[in-house]
This record gives sequence, structure tokens and C-alpha cells, in this order.
Amino acid sequence: MSSKVIPLMDRRQTLAIPALPPQAPVRGAALHDSRGRPLRDLRISVTDRCNFRCVYCMPREAFGKDHAFLPHHALLSFEEITRVARIAADHGVEKIRLTGGEPLLRKNIEVLIGMLAGLRRPDGQPLDLTLTTNGSLLARKAVALKAAGLRRVTVSLDALDDACFRRMNDADHSVADVLAGIEAAQAAGLAPVKINMVVKRGTNDDQILPLARFFRGSGHILRFIEYMDVGSTNGWRMDEVLPSATVIARIHAEMPLVAVPSSHQGEVAQRWRYADGSGEIGVISSVTQAFCGSCTRARLSTEGKLYTCLFASAGHDLRALLRGDASDERLATMLAGIWQGRTDRYSEIRGAAGSTDERIEMSYIGG
Ligand code: GTP
Ligand code: 5AD
Ligand code: SF4
Ligand code: SF4
Repeated sequence: MSSKVIPLMDRRQTLAIPALPPQAPVRGAALHDSRGRPLRDLRISVTDRCNFRCVYCMPREAFGKDHAFLPHHALLSFEEITRVARIAADHGVEKIRLTGGEPLLRKNIEVLIGMLAGLRRPDGQPLDLTLTTNGSLLARKAVALKAAGLRRVTVSLDALDDACFRRMNDADHSVADVLAGIEAAQAAGLAPVKINMVVKRGTNDDQILPLARFFRGSGHILRFIEYMDVGSTNGWRMDEVLPSATVIARIHAEMPLVAVPSSHQGEVAQRWRYADGSGEIGVISSVTQAFCGSCTRARLSTEGKLYTCLFASAGHDLRALLRGDASDERLATMLAGIWQGRTDRYSEIRGAAGSTDERIEMSYIGG
């Protein structure tokens, strides 16, 4: 072992099954947590593997050649994922986002998309089905993803300059590969394409203006994300966070911006548009302006644990139930018990008593 290796502690603890409600929840009735927040979004991690090694997510020192990723049998099958998603949709989930790791590395992902696209909400509407990708395989897969029923994609892109891109993402891919993926997605009808840039002060904040200039007028929505203290391997420091207010001020000084009201309750990004009508951008300020108060998101990990917060230290093992003989009613009751008992608001209490340092990695729980 080289001296640079950061030991990756296994924080994948399992929470006990919560006290279950006396009755199974009624299909179509929304579930609310202890702070009155409804369950609306399910983010599903379909693989813990990635072909990038972003410094803020899977630094190579911690996710090296010897890293033990999950074996295939540990992953939820497509049938298991679809069953959880169907039950979640019966109880208020309207949006599903597939994440990873890199979701396009999961074999036959379009088959899963087809299965999820067939689900319906209690009012008969399909789900808003989307996916977050690093874009490296998107040019090859965009048409098949669209044909399978995917609605739109979000592509991560942290720099326009290749050297800076490699400093952030430590990958054997170029910016051109990702840009080709974005164009292929747009051409396939997976639009509007959202582009997520994680801003790390001192590493890629000089790329804010080049990216803003590049995507202005393209129809794509560029969003700037504050670098978060998620997981325990990225060596996060507050002085490497560039507040969204500064991002907006820098862009506004060159390309005037006007605030746009949010499109729905619980929207993560604050929206802005260029005053001259040349497009929209967004900022996601999870560090400087936490949005836990309206957080409607549950996360299903690669191996089937349900997490009620991105910063949770443990999840509820749904896979054990799925692989046992649990009925749909039992699974729905468990989901209701977990959600109704939810108290999470990590970003609001970061660093305060009661917050934890025992955090799960984002590549396992999903972005
Ligand atoms: P859209 O409907 O496509 O706009 O999705 P979204 O607004 O949920 O955005 P997306 O899924 O692309 O999330 C963007 C980034 O915001 C994530 O990669 C995280 O960095 C951050 N983020 C999303 N959800 C949460 C959350 O629940 N908590 C925190 N702290 N950060 C989040
Ligand atoms: N801070 C903020 N966002 C992160 N992501 C992963 N790690 C972090 C972090 N430390 C998000 C980014 C990326 C997506 C896959 O996950 O938005 O684009
Ligand atoms: Fe991979 Fe996305 Fe994590 Fe980067 S942020 S290492 S692309 S999962
Ligand atoms: Fe939701 Fe947890 Fe993020 Fe707060 S920190 S917005 S509760 S996932």
C-alpha cells in the first residue's frame, strides 16, 4: 500500500426497521415526514463504479485499482429496482433520477429505463424519468436512451479547458467527448439538457465565465453547484467553497442576469436568466443556503438501502425484504414508516451538535 492511500472506512451500516404504521398507506395518498415534507423524488444509484475519478467524489487515492466495488449479485436487479419504484410511485413519487457512479456503465441500462418508463402515478401520469451522467458514453447511447423512454439528462461538466477538466475529473476523456455527448442528447430529444458544474475555489472557478459564455444561447441550462462535504474521502474544506452569490456576481458583471421564480416547490436550483433573453442558468447552494426545509428526496443505493438524506450515515435495507417474501403491502408500509419517521436536515445543521461525520460516499448513494 502506498503512503498516499486514504483508508476508506465501510460506513454502509444498516438501520433497524422503524416502527411501522399500524396500517398500510393508501395508494395515491402522499406520505409526509416529521417536518411535513412530502416524498416526491426517488434517486436510484444503479452502479457504484465510474470511469472518472472526480476529486470531490471519487478521489483516486481512495478509489484506486484495489478498491473493492460491489459484486454483481449485491446490486439490485432491474426487477427489484422497478418494484421499489412502482411502490414509491404509488405513494407520491413523481420523479426518478438514475445516478451512480456512472449510470451508463450499468449493462443494459436502457432495459431498466424501459421498465421504469412503463410505470404510472396513481393519476395515470408517467414519471419524470431522468439520469445524471458524466457524458463520456452519452454520444454512443443517447438515441437508445431516448427510445427506451428517458425524458431528459443532466450532464456533469466542470471545465471547458482540458487541463482543468483533467485536474477536476482525473479521467482519460476530453472535454470534446462530453460536449459531443451533450449535443447527441439534444439531437435525440433528451432536452432541455442540464449541465452541472461543481465549483471548487482555486481549482476550477476560473472556468465559470468560459462555461457561461460557451453555453449562453445554446438552449442548455448550466448550473453551478457549491462543492459539498459529502462522503469522507474528498478532504473538503470550507475555504474551497465558492458561494453561489459570488458566481452570480461574476457572471452578472459581464452578462447581466435577472432572477427567475422557481418552477416547483422544493426546486434545488435557484434560477436566473440572461437579461437579453439568451438563456437560463442556475445555482445550487447547498452549503451557503441549505434547502433541507423543502427536501422531498429519497435515495436508493446500489445495493438496495434506502437513505433519507445525502449525508446519512446509514440506510434501511430494502433488499433483504425484496429477496425475502415481503408483499407489496409490506414494502409500502415499510416505506411509509421510514419516510414518516424522517427528521434529516444535515445541510442546515452542518458542523453543529447532532450533525455527523460518518457519511456515506456519493458514488454509492447517488448524486
Ligand atoms: P432537475 O429536476 O433536473 O433540476 O434536478 P435537480 O434540481 O434535483 O438537480 P440534480 O439532480 O442535477 O442535482 C444537482 C446537484 O445538486 C446534485 O448533484 C447535488 O450536488 C445537489 N443536490 C441535489 N439534491 C440534493 C439534496 O437533496 N441535498 C443536497 N445537499 N444536495 C443536493
Ligand atoms: N459536491 C457537490 N456535488 C457533488 N457531486 C458529487 N460530489 C459532489 C460534491 N462533493 C454531484 C455533482 C456531479 C454529480 C454526479 O454529483 O453534481 O455532477
Ligand atoms: Fe463519477 Fe460523477 Fe462521481 Fe465524477 S461525480 S466520480 S463522474 S460519479
Ligand atoms: Fe435533503 Fe439531506 Fe440534502 Fe438537506 S442535506 S437537502 S435533508 S438530502
